[in-house]
Amino acid sequence: MKIISKPLELKKYLKDEEKSIGFVPTMGALHEGHISLIKRARGETEIVIVSIFVNPKQFSKDEDFSKYPKKDEADTKICEMSGVDILFFPNAKDIYGCDEVSLLAPNIRGFVLEGLTRPTHFNGVLTVVMKLLNIVSPTKAYFGKKDAQQFNLINLMVKQLFMSVEIIGVETVRESDGLALSSRNVYLSKKERRESLKISSSLYLAGNLIVKNILDVDTIKEQMQKILAPLEIFYVEILNRNFEIIKEVEVGNSIVLVEVKVGNTRLLDNIWL
Ligand code: PAF
Repeated sequence: MKIISKPLELKKYLKDEEKSIGFVPTMGALHEGHISLIKRARGETEIVIVSIFVNPKQFSKDEDFSKYPKKDEADTKICEMSGVDILFFPNAKDIYGCDEVSLLAPNIRGFVLEGLTRPTHFNGVLTVVMKLLNIVSPTKAYFGKKDAQQFNLINLMVKQLFMSVEIIGVETVRESDGLALSSRNVYLSKKERRESLKISSSLYLAGNLIVKNILDVDTIKEQMQKILAPLEIFYVEILNRNFEIIKEVEVGNSIVLVEVKVGNTRLLDNIWL
């Protein structure tokens, strides 16, 4: 596995590459969820590139940027063992200049849900993803569907800016008790870890209600909120896959989304129904 840290060096290295490139952008602290993205890329493309970059621009001032878990050595081993060809490990100075052209998330889809309490978050995500895609020029780029709003906005960016990469969404990986894997799970105490199971329980409840043909969005949200009640709820929402508000679940075209705070940790999860 080759490790490259300079954007222009990576661009130069890939300049005449004719093989298909699968790209998995990450912020490190890799877990099974990331490994499933890498495996998918490995199966579908000839060269697999993973980036590890904790993007300062997607954290607001009061967020956990400086505390975000860093596991460079373990991450490098995971990449090596998962068959990654190139690990791209830039630092912030290599990615950002002091006077930046910036990318703004659209109002309607960027400032709801996650974006409501983190208004600059998706500007930072889109800016860095755009930069990374321009550096790597992948055939396909892989993102977890757990970050559904991020996935939706990246798809929109790629479409609206006429970019040629194909964006692939990969299913959420869960612990055996239902907790969705996240790099932030390491922050949870034992008690918080138990409390966090309310998130997947509320999503399973939504799934069961929908299977029973209870499709009224307000009724489902109310039931979910009862399960989640002891936690600080940022949002419980049911939207169609264009992230538009709906009154009735459209089976095959809906997403049920939850974000809560467990202790000091924001956790989000969703199911696509
Ligand atoms: O999902 C993430 O890990 C990050 O938001 C991403 C896409 C790597 C951009 O920093």
